[in-house]
Amino acid sequence: MADALLEARGLAKTYGEGASAVKVFEDISLSVKEGEFLVLLGPSGSGKSTLLNILGLLDVPTGGSFSIDGADAANLREDEKAALRSRKIGFIFQFDSLLPEFTVLENVELPALMRGQPNPEHSLKLLERFSLAHAARKFPPEMSGGERQRAAIARALRNRPRIIFADEPTGNLDGDNARRVFGDLKELSRGGVAVLLATHNNEAIGYGDRVLSLAHGKLNEITPAAFSREI
Ligand SMILES: Nc1ncnc2c1ncn2[C@@H]1O[C@H](COP(=O)(O)OP(=O)(O)OP(=O)(O)O)[C@@H](O)[C@H]1O
Ligand SMILES: [Mg+2]
Repeated sequence: MADALLEARGLAKTYGEGASAVKVFEDISLSVKEGEFLVLLGPSGSGKSTLLNILGLLDVPTGGSFSIDGADAANLREDEKAALRSRKIGFIFQFDSLLPEFTVLENVELPALMRGQPNPEHSLKLLERFSLAHAARKFPPEMSGGERQRAAIARALRNRPRIIFADEPTGNLDGDNARRVFGDLKELSRGGVAVLLATHNNEAIGYGDRVLSLAHGKLNEITPAAFSREI
């Protein structure tokens, strides 16, 4: 098996066509190993979400190729994409996106249900791991932002993904809760799950195995020390 879990070559993305076209990037290459924690920084509008959405199979590139766990991911049918996403990928967004009319336990169990492999005991164990056992029967609106975001991480982990894409997951949290989320993601990566975290929070830099910066359509690897000089 290839060493890299995720391999992207020459990815390009332009939204729209003609005079109204927005070129976000045209030649992004990236390789992520299993268990690596990558922190992706960059100004607003630089394309961080666009890149994560493409790599997470929520959007399509306009050029280039990429593979996830050895599978060519750029040319899949919708059903193949859904299957790959369900088996290998977890997503965490800025706003937790839990379904408010379901309990936390049901929310975490949902990805497994959709895959036809229900096991609420496993979901409960995940909630325990994130100190949320007490909230299993609560509905998301009855929980704090930090609790909801931890539940969203538990849900992203439910199908034992190989890679987690986290798009500004702490944008809505205070410092303590943000650090807890970064620490949880770090622990996941130590357990072998690759993590690609897009954020504006410079505190995340200290958690990354690698720090990348996306600006003006270019992805650059930066050392944390170099970044602190830049800002
Ligand atoms: N669906 C879309 N249609 C047209 N343009 C889009 C679309 N989504 C994003 N864009 C544009 O693509 C560029 C990159 O947006 P993106 O959301 O990826 O940036 P970002 O780095 O995630 O920003 P932020 O830090 O604010 O989240 C922006 O110029 C944005 O306006
Ligand atoms: Mg974004």
